Amino acid sequence: MNHEQISGIAHADHPIKAPLADDSVRRLLEHGAPRDGGRALDLGCGTAEWLLRALSLHPRLYAEGVDTSEVSVEHARRSAGLHGVAERLVLHQQAAADFVSEQPFDLVLSVGATHAFGGLLPTLAAARKHLAPGGRVLLGESFWDGEPSPEAVEIFGELHDLATTVDLIVADGWAPVHAHVSTRGELDAYEWSCLGSLASWALDHPDDPNAAEVLATAHARRAEWLKGYRDSFGFLSLVLRPTP
Ligand SMILES: C[S@@+](CC[C@H](N)C(=O)[O-])C[C@H]1O[C@@H](n2cnc3c(N)ncnc32)[C@H](O)[C@@H]1O
Repeated sequence: MNHEQISGIAHADHPIKAPLADDSVRRLLEHGAPRDGGRALDLGCGTAEWLLRALSLHPRLYAEGVDTSEVSVEHARRSAGLHGVAERLVLHQQAAADFVSEQPFDLVLSVGATHAFGGLLPTLAAARKHLAPGGRVLLGESFWDGEPSPEAVEIFGELHDLATTVDLIVADGWAPVHAHVSTRGELDAYEWSCLGSLASWALDHPDDPNAAEVLATAHARRAEWLKGYRDSFGFLSLVLRPTP
């Protein structure tokens, strides 16, 4: 199975691919999304779960999502039809860095996807280019919430601590107007949900040739998490406005 298929199974019960509870997602969207219509763009949208929720919350909102994953974009298209928002959601299967639009956006999202631009500040630079006057950015980014093990650095690359992450963003010309740091409960719930979905799928499909591989993936990821990064990984979500 490829990475996208494994990821699809892992996120069966946690469609937001980040350690955030549904209430936290709703609050972030309430602070980020324009209430009276407007345009939203998600760079690295995955299955477009953030946009689907924003479109449901705001019936006059129009949205576009960009992701390289064919599987995720197709999934998002099906979901948009099921949610009755297909006419207000345009999806692009392409690299986020290559996405161009003639019209700017009132909300630009990047959650768990700064790798699409090679890091935090290049992501903010890209978001700024797409932002309409008065617009907001909804950013979700990982940070070190403790001393990382070498294994954690290998998995996530070089991250900063919380204060440094926020300092870098502010120095880049942004003011946080709403923020949420994922709780221990949200971080654990996300991991257990992904691991549980992988294990359940494997046990529910004993005759599938991929069952053993999927179960082994669940065991390996659980060990990586509990022994490698549970004590040092944090996740920060911010609603940002550009400063003059
Ligand atoms: C952790 S997921 C987050 C998805 C979504 N933002 C969410 O919170 O549910 C990261 C996403 O970034 C996408 N991605 C990775 N590199 C990308 C790129 N260069 N351009 C666009 N999307 C990319 C992946 O396909 C994946 O769907």
